[in-house]
Amino acid sequence: MNALVHPQPSYLLSPTEAGIAQATALLQNEGIVALPTETVYGLAGKAESSLALKKIYEAKNRPAQNPLIWHVHNPEKAFALFAYSSLSLTNKNRLTRLATCFWPGPLTIVAPIAPTIKSVLPTIAVRIPKTAVTLEILRRCDFPLAMPSANLSTRPSPTSAAHVLKTLDGRIDAIMDGGVCDGGLESTVIMLDEARVKILRPGLIEPAALDEALQEQVSRVQAHSGPLSSPGQAFLHYAPMVQNIALLSRDEAAVHWSSVATFIAQKRVIDALAQQLGARPASAMTLALEDGPLGFAKQLYDALYAAEAYKERDLILVSPPNNEAWAAVKDRLSRAAGRLCGL
Ligand code: TXA
Ligand code: MG
Repeated sequence: MNALVHPQPSYLLSPTEAGIAQATALLQNEGIVALPTETVYGLAGKAESSLALKKIYEAKNRPAQNPLIWHVHNPEKAFALFAYSSLSLTNKNRLTRLATCFWPGPLTIVAPIAPTIKSVLPTIAVRIPKTAVTLEILRRCDFPLAMPSANLSTRPSPTSAAHVLKTLDGRIDAIMDGGVCDGGLESTVIMLDEARVKILRPGLIEPAALDEALQEQVSRVQAHSGPLSSPGQAFLHYAPMVQNIALLSRDEAAVHWSSVATFIAQKRVIDALAQQLGARPASAMTLALEDGPLGFAKQLYDALYAAEAYKERDLILVSPPNNEAWAAVKDRLSRAAGRLCGL
């Protein structure tokens, strides 16, 4: 009877032996399956299959120029995707340190691509995800899986199976339901370079943790200045489907406290504004997210999906504190509000 109350697509798999076997078989047969990771849900397909890749790009409506991250289950497999023997000793040492400190985990490394891999790009992006069910599927497949976030291009990334269904229902072969993602924000993407390791996309791993692991200063992301080394940074991203959206400082946002339909901010900001200005109208949607950057990140995409589902669809996001621990969240908020890439 529950099936009638909560209709679920037959392709919603659970992380049991049967579900894992089914996901693996689909991937072996060049199907595309949404898988949970510790960052966000990814849309997986066999990375060396042009058919599977075509399905991923079509399902997501993703621009062809935006390359995918390859996912594997151990460092040896990861290093084999790079032109490892032609890397300098410095870069080999950096790779070893990074793999030891952060894999499996939310770090994506871009380095020169192995000559054996067919690609139009001179580099490849590689990551080992942490979530057990997905690691197990990678192990059983024993080939790399390309995995962009499992959302329609431009929309917020999914942090639950329900989010995947919101934009990809009917466009993919299956979803492995692994619950809510622990991190809720994408991996940090870095590029191995001779002079300095560069952050191409801020993410769950903070720059300071990379400095510490490498015993050198990594180069921080210069948001929207200079040439783009990570093609994906050029496109509109993470945008909820609302009529109006703005990212404002706390004081700017306060002006709209009683009038705007949806308000997303740290809990402490919401509490302070409520004290100063009184309660918001009962019909308005007020989403108070955790005060710290990790907790806020975990709840952010769910809040963006909630805002777009709300019938009145004007949305104000309040800028978080101005320090490095918030850089990745701030990047996503700016992009969600269309502040970057000239849109
Ligand atoms: O946390 C994550 O990284 C998630 C999970 C599923 O692993 N994946 C993810 O993929 O966020 P996607 O496709 O949404 O973002 C991948 C980013 C894009 O900005 C893309 O341009 C960049 O990685 N990228 C991929 N290959 C690259 C390369 N060879 N050089 C530079 N950037 C690359
Ligand atoms: Mg994405």
